Amino acid sequence: MNLVFELSGEKTEIGLEEVKSVLEVFEIDYKVICFEDPILVIEVEEIDLNILRNRLAFTHSISNLISISENIEGLIDSASNLETDLTYSVRANQKKVNKPIKNMDVESKVGSAISGDVDLESPGVRFQVFITNRCFFLTEKFFDINKKEFRRRKPNLRPFFKPGAVKPKFARGIVNLLGLTKRDYLLDLFSGTGSYLLEASLIGCRAIGVDIELDMLEGMLDNFRSIDEEVNCILGDSRFLPVQDSSVDAVVMDPPYGRSSGYRAGSLSELYEKALRESIRVLRGNGRLCVITPKKSRFSINKGYKLEKVSKFEVRVHRNLTRDIKIFKRCKYND
Ligand SMILES: C[S@@+](CC[C@H](N)C(=O)[O-])C[C@H]1O[C@@H](n2cnc3c(N)ncnc32)[C@H](O)[C@@H]1O
Repeated sequence: MNLVFELSGEKTEIGLEEVKSVLEVFEIDYKVICFEDPILVIEVEEIDLNILRNRLAFTHSISNLISISENIEGLIDSASNLETDLTYSVRANQKKVNKPIKNMDVESKVGSAISGDVDLESPGVRFQVFITNRCFFLTEKFFDINKKEFRRRKPNLRPFFKPGAVKPKFARGIVNLLGLTKRDYLLDLFSGTGSYLLEASLIGCRAIGVDIELDMLEGMLDNFRSIDEEVNCILGDSRFLPVQDSSVDAVVMDPPYGRSSGYRAGSLSELYEKALRESIRVLRGNGRLCVITPKKSRFSINKGYKLEKVSKFEVRVHRNLTRDIKIFKRCKYND
């Protein structure tokens, strides 16, 4: 089966890596057929689509590929081979197209080429055409990813909120990039209100949060209680973690940026450096680490560390803040 992922427009590189990471976690064999930003086509043998439905954050919808054409004539030609006993609708969606065409024209041409009865309100089959600069993808939509839950968990709607809190969609994306699966331990070195850990626990991981401020840990606990999930709290300094060597499956290190939220250390660079060393120490072999820093920070990760870079992204938050996100895998060599 060829699956079509309509990735979230604002950061398609994250969406692409997120899909691959989730498929790998569930040991699903796949082959990338094409990536025409923001449309990703992947061939998979067998898959429970609910895995993708319940996990992905940076995908809008998932469909079944019917054909890929270079021009509208090819699209209509392949639509004319379609026949359905069910009612159907056709929707066209243009993606980053330099010379836009009318969606309605595409919908009516494709719609009239298909044999069957049209029902735009509640069709039995929903055909979806994605148009990019180079291709026309004719697909049958399986489902849209439900983002309502992310909106419901927005940081300001939780019992405990601080302005630096990360949004659930972003946090879920990071959890997915960390390649986590049920019962895995995720350690957040600067847990604050618990954004990353809440998303991790919702997919069945075991969450451990470290924070130097007691009121932060208490607030995070309130957030967990409100969704009936559990978290392990450590009141401590991330430069000196009271955690055993090689004991956690993944670490997220999103330290204070020295702006709105304060930090306890001689300097930010000392905090980053020592927390990074501790992250590597407590990670098990092959475990993943996510390091998030503001783009302009001069913090760099030396080659000498037992880390291998998996992926790297930049995410603009607002005019004065762009986040640099790096995902690493801990290497076993040099142990
Ligand atoms: C920006 S907030 C974290 C935001 C969090 N990601 C969220 O979504 O709510 C940074 C946190 O780091 C904590 N912190 C500062 N210095 C620390 C240190 N040396 N060790 C552990 N935590 C520290 C602060 O108390 C604060 O809660």
